[in-house]
Amino acid sequence: MIILIVSFCKFAFSDEQQIIDMGDIEYGEYLGAECASCHHQSGASEGIPSIHGMDAEVFVALMLAYRSKDMENPVMQMIAGRLNDEQIGSLALYFSGLETPN
Ligand code: HEC
Repeated sequence: MIILIVSFCKFAFSDEQQIIDMGDIEYGEYLGAECASCHHQSGASEGIPSIHGMDAEVFVALMLAYRSKDMENPVMQMIAGRLNDEQIGSLALYFSGLETPN
């Protein structure tokens, strides 16, 4: 039983990395086009945070939190709800590789 719990925890912690490993950066660039209409490169505009240059694991964790509705924003819940793990991993690779706004 204890072994079971330990191995489950290990899996839970490496979740983000596993999702990033599934990603493809060019696919992420393609998918990311629709995000740019709100998430402008120049950073925070009208209360929308910039996601450029965000750490890939943090990015995945946030997207999973929207998808599971642990985070409340209805727009992002809807967007993340349409994405599978491979797509989220691809977006993470793409956005984490972009320059952070000054
Ligand atoms: C219709 C506008 C809109 C679109 C399109 C959109 N977002 Fe968002 N996004 C938001 C808003 C508004 C927030 C802030 C929500 C909040 O406060 O929880 C947000 C927050 C986020 C966050 C969390 C940022 C942070 O620092 O907390 C991530 C990551 C994110 N969006 C990724 C994406 C991705 C990836 C796409 C494209 C697949 C996308 N968004 C498309 C409006 C949008």
